[in-house]
Order: sequence, then structure tokens, then C-alpha cells
Amino acid sequence: MACTCVVGLQWGDEAKGKIVDLLTQSHDYVVRYNGGANAGHTVVKNGKTYKLSLLPTGILCDHMKAVIANGVVVNPVKFFDEIKSLQEAGIPIGPHNLFLSNHAHLIFPYHIEEETLGEEGSGKAIGTTGRGIGPCYQDKVGRTSGIRVGELLEPKYLRERLRTIVPRKNIIFKALKPDAKQFDADALCDEYLVFAEKMKPYITNTTHLLHRVLAEGKNILFEAAQGSLLDVDHGTYPFVTSSNSSTTGIWSGSGVPARNLNRILGVVKAYTTRVGRGPFPTELDDGPQGIGERIRKTGNEYGTVTGRPRRCGWFDAVAVRHTAMLGGVDELTLMLLDVLSVVDELKICVAYEVDGRRTTEFPGDAFLLEQCKPVYETMPGWKTDLTGVRQMADLPAAARAYVARISELVGKPVSIVSVGPDRVQTIAVS
Ligand code: IMP
Repeated sequence: MACTCVVGLQWGDEAKGKIVDLLTQSHDYVVRYNGGANAGHTVVKNGKTYKLSLLPTGILCDHMKAVIANGVVVNPVKFFDEIKSLQEAGIPIGPHNLFLSNHAHLIFPYHIEEETLGEEGSGKAIGTTGRGIGPCYQDKVGRTSGIRVGELLEPKYLRERLRTIVPRKNIIFKALKPDAKQFDADALCDEYLVFAEKMKPYITNTTHLLHRVLAEGKNILFEAAQGSLLDVDHGTYPFVTSSNSSTTGIWSGSGVPARNLNRILGVVKAYTTRVGRGPFPTELDDGPQGIGERIRKTGNEYGTVTGRPRRCGWFDAVAVRHTAMLGGVDELTLMLLDVLSVVDELKICVAYEVDGRRTTEFPGDAFLLEQCKPVYETMPGWKTDLTGVRQMADLPAAARAYVARISELVGKPVSIVSVGPDRVQTIAVS
């Protein structure tokens, strides 16, 4: 039995989807345990590009069964949109290979309005994806207003809940902004009961399911969404997402004990990106002709979900060392190395300087990280196209040295180097 996790070690968008795709052959089940349709996962398969937000990317593989576990927040509209778009692309998806937890929480349209009001009116915008993720998790932990997928199957109960919750939301929204959207509990209930009928065959207790398949000796692949620096407990709070996006979320978000994991792959880009607000010590904010823009253009660094340009910067070994340690990572997969071919000279952040003092400890608070100045080490670039390279020995010496230095600074071996989006553009490091 193998239980593997693929987790991002930066601020998301590390190209985890490609690594999941490479691992699907050796696994039977793929599990999403956190987040919702805020994730943007792109996989290129047989020359076709697939973009998924809510469904695990592993579902693109024929033999895989996919699980959306209890830690996920589910927008039914997105759930069915993604199923439909994959079915139209000829990928057979249905209740035979997709299981939705009865304990996952439901996103309603009022969560999206709540998020807009929070982002606009608080003076402390996070720069969220606008998918209602935060407010849904707020209702989950607040308990009185959270509604779980399983409640869709109890129409009378669902209506009662919505008739209590929605008027209270309306009052708050109006108080925050006189022309805020207002919602009708019965109309929402009717709309969600239509989803319920279609969703019913997919809904199950996925914790029980996963323990059954573990007992049968099946191999499970956990697919984390977002990156560990966005983890609500261990990331750059408050500029984080609202779930445990590091491996710490697996146990609570799926019901599978962490001790079952026997392989954890930490996915990192060869540089760093971030979408949304929050401190980013190694950001290259150097204008339209600068290196940051060159990396953005070459790496196509625009958000999959929102289309926002991603902020780009140098590799931050302090941050990744922290998240690799936090996640219990066994090995690193280094993505998008080919993008750095456009840079003459590379920098890696090896420490921070705070008030004239040097540190290699990553602070888990945005206000502290804001005070950190990166200390860089400079390495020569290679200025050669890497997209056709398939073996470590064929990489330019400067690229090999860069990979080795990252491994050394993070304190983990690099097992895979990726030099392009396609499956074949992958170098196994022996
Ligand atoms: P939320 O998850 O929509 O609440 O957004 C919170 C923060 O996480 C914002 O900075 C988003 O840009 C960021 N974020 C959420 N999902 C992703 C993702 O999949 N990739 C990268 N950043 C993300």
C-alpha cells in the first residue's frame, strides 16, 4: 500500500498537476482534501490542455477514482461545470469514478457576496479569488450557518436551515452596504434541491470509503490545492487561504491518518510566484522591461482561476526550507527550470536580514515577513533552451549547479526536474 502526497511548497501554482499526472499510473485513488474552486490546476495530456479547479486532476487518468473529501468546500455549479467540460472532452466521469464527501461544506451565492463585501469594505483586502472560499470556511467553523453536502439529501431540513441562515446574512449584508445583494431562502433551496438530485449518486462518506480502500491495499494519492505558504495556520497569515493547504490538512481534510503517508513530494518552481496581496521578500518588482516581467511572459504566469498576472521573484530557499520541514517532505520536484533560460544571472535568497540581524527562520506572520530583506547568493545563468533536455547529464553545468544548490539549501533531494508542461519534458534525477 502506498499513500503519497503532492504538495506545493510556495504560494501555489507550482505545477502540481503535472506531478500528479506522472504519479497516477502507480495509484488507484486521488484525493482532494482542501480548498475548493479557488485552485487552478493545469495539466497537458496528449497535447490537450485541461484546467481544473475543484475536481482532482488525477481524474484525467482512466483507471483513477477521484475523491473530493470532507475538507473541501464545494460550489455545485463548478462541480457540474467541470464534470460537463471533461465529459465533452471525452473523459468518462460519473458516480463510478468520482466520490463527493457528505461532510464537505457547500458554497452558496451569499458566500461570494460576503467575500466581496469583506474585500471591499474591510480596508484589509487579501486579494482573494472571489469564489466564496473564506466565508464558507468561516461558516463551517462558526457551525451555526454551515451547510454540508449531505444535508442536500434532506429537503425539509435544508429549507429550515436556509430560512434561518439567509435572513441573518441579508441583515448583515445590508448593514455593511445598503445596496448589497439580498437572497431568498426558498429560491436558493429550490435551486440547490435541483443540484441535490444530480449530486446524490456522487455523495458518500468518503472517510469510510478511504479506510475501506486502504484496507484493500489500494494506493492513494493526495492532491493538495494552493501552496503551503498559503496554509491558514502555517502560511503568511493573514494573506493566506482559509484551509490547511500544507500536508497538515490531510488528516482533518480526509480522515486518513497522517501516519499512513509514506511518500511526500514537495513541488516548487525554480523561481517564486504569488497571486493576491501579501509580503513577498524576493519579488522582482522591476518594471515592464525587468526580469520579473520576462519571467512572467516566458512562464505564462497568469492566474488559471482569475487571469490575474502573478507576481514573480527569485527562489526563496528560506521559505521553501520552512515549508519542506513543515510538510515532512521527502523529495523536491523542481518545476519550470526552462523558464529561467531568459535570465543572465540568477539569485537565490539564502537568508533574511531583519534590523541588521541575519536569520534563516521563516516568520509565520505577514507583518514580520514584511520587515525581512532577502540576502542573495548569485549564480550564473545558462541562456540555453532546456525544453528538449531529458537527462541531468545533458543540462548545462550552470543549470545542474542551480538545482544542486537549491537541494542543498532546502535540505532535501531533488527527484524530478521539469523543463516544460508536457509529460515527456521531465528529467528523473537518479
Ligand atoms: P482565497 O483562497 O480565494 O480565499 O484567496 C486567498 C489567497 O490565496 C489569495 O491571495 C489568492 O490569490 C490565493 N490563492 C487561492 N487559491 C490559489 C491557488 O490555487 N493558487 C495560487 N494562489 C491561490
